[in-house]
Amino acid sequence: MKSRYLFILGKTPDLSVFELAQFFTENEIVFWDEEFAIVETDMEIEADFLNRLGGTVAIARLLDESLEEFLVSEFKDSEGKIPFGISAYGMRDFERKKLLLSCKKVLKSEGVSCRFVNKDFGNLNAAQVKAEKLLEKGAYLIMTRNLNGREYRGMAIAVQDVDAYSKRDYDKPFRDARMGMLPPKLAQMMTNSGVGGAKRAEGAEGAEGAEGVLRLCSGSSAVRVFDPFCGSGTVLMEAMLAGYNVIGSDISEDCVKGTRKNLEWFEKEFRISGGQFKVFQHDASRAFDEKLKDENICIVTEGYLGPPQSAVPSEDVQKKLFHELIQLYDNFFQNASKILERGARICITFPFFNGREKIFFPGKKGLKRFGFEIVSPEELLYFRRNQVMGREVVVFRRI
Ligand SMILES: C[S@@+](CC[C@H](N)C(=O)[O-])C[C@H]1O[C@@H](n2cnc3c(N)ncnc32)[C@H](O)[C@@H]1O
Repeated sequence: MKSRYLFILGKTPDLSVFELAQFFTENEIVFWDEEFAIVETDMEIEADFLNRLGGTVAIARLLDESLEEFLVSEFKDSEGKIPFGISAYGMRDFERKKLLLSCKKVLKSEGVSCRFVNKDFGNLNAAQVKAEKLLEKGAYLIMTRNLNGREYRGMAIAVQDVDAYSKRDYDKPFRDARMGMLPPKLAQMMTNSGVGGAKRAEGAEGAEGAEGVLRLCSGSSAVRVFDPFCGSGTVLMEAMLAGYNVIGSDISEDCVKGTRKNLEWFEKEFRISGGQFKVFQHDASRAFDEKLKDENICIVTEGYLGPPQSAVPSEDVQKKLFHELIQLYDNFFQNASKILERGARICITFPFFNGREKIFFPGKKGLKRFGFEIVSPEELLYFRRNQVMGREVVVFRRI
């Protein structure tokens, strides 16, 4: 019996869907657009699964009945005042208002005392859902309408833990703002894309549970995630959280020390047990120790992006930076190809300039000559509208 789920996507829907495609087959992701994806699967998805995803902000189980019918059947025998909230995507404000008032009226007519928590009838964010304890004490309902007018209704089973992300991002002991901070959510999407998800098809440990529950909370401890430009260790932290063993290296001694400090802090704060880490100093344009070669290793990294820019640089400056990066990445890919087995992936970000037109790193396709194919779609981008430099995420596969 298939269950249907609604995934509300974050601000980079293309990346979010690519991340989901690491866990679900093409047939299971039955629809997606800029705001949401519908997944139809034999697996039962647990709330914890959301903690493994960087690109999804909420997961809801789809309902066949109307929101009013669902609320009545869920709460008709409950006592006390039931809080509920509704977010409606692809719908007008007045429609959300109508829906909220209708739910309240129907519940009242059934003798259920309730209140909706939407302020000014607007959509809810994760912080509001958490503050109002909707998942524990009441209901958070999500309604979506796609461009063809098809509607989906769902009951949320999980919303993104915004406090946990902020703690991981801002509380770590070693931060170096000069080198640009990789957001944990992006590091998480990259980790999933680099590992290739839970490797459900290959039956890796931690994937499909015996009872058909998609247990994706812990990754496979056999997989080792290597970040050869580890900076402050953001990728490594997200990979450890997913249950992988991690290896980091960086050319800078300060970054190596800082990453170790961050990972020790992370293990304690997030009670990670069993995950192992190793960090050492290394120039990624030079040959890696052959001992790193292992069938379970993959590379996930935000490489060197060049100096910080406050405006889109002149063509000459762009050329000079890209030339420098081509040399660095040519050497790095040549060396990486020697420690990766066939099928292993490199998930990497390249910088692009976000001017009137987007100017992409020209050396990307040339890297295939070191024995790789590109398995990610064109232009998987992560950037804020006013940012001069954005990141392009590319996934290579060793052939
Ligand atoms: C953009 S930062 C990575 C930031 C990291 N993702 C984080 O969130 O902390 C790039 C890192 O690459 C390192 N780096 C630059 N050239 C390198 C090289 N040739 N080999 C190894 N690391 C290098 C820098 O020291 C810097 O820490």
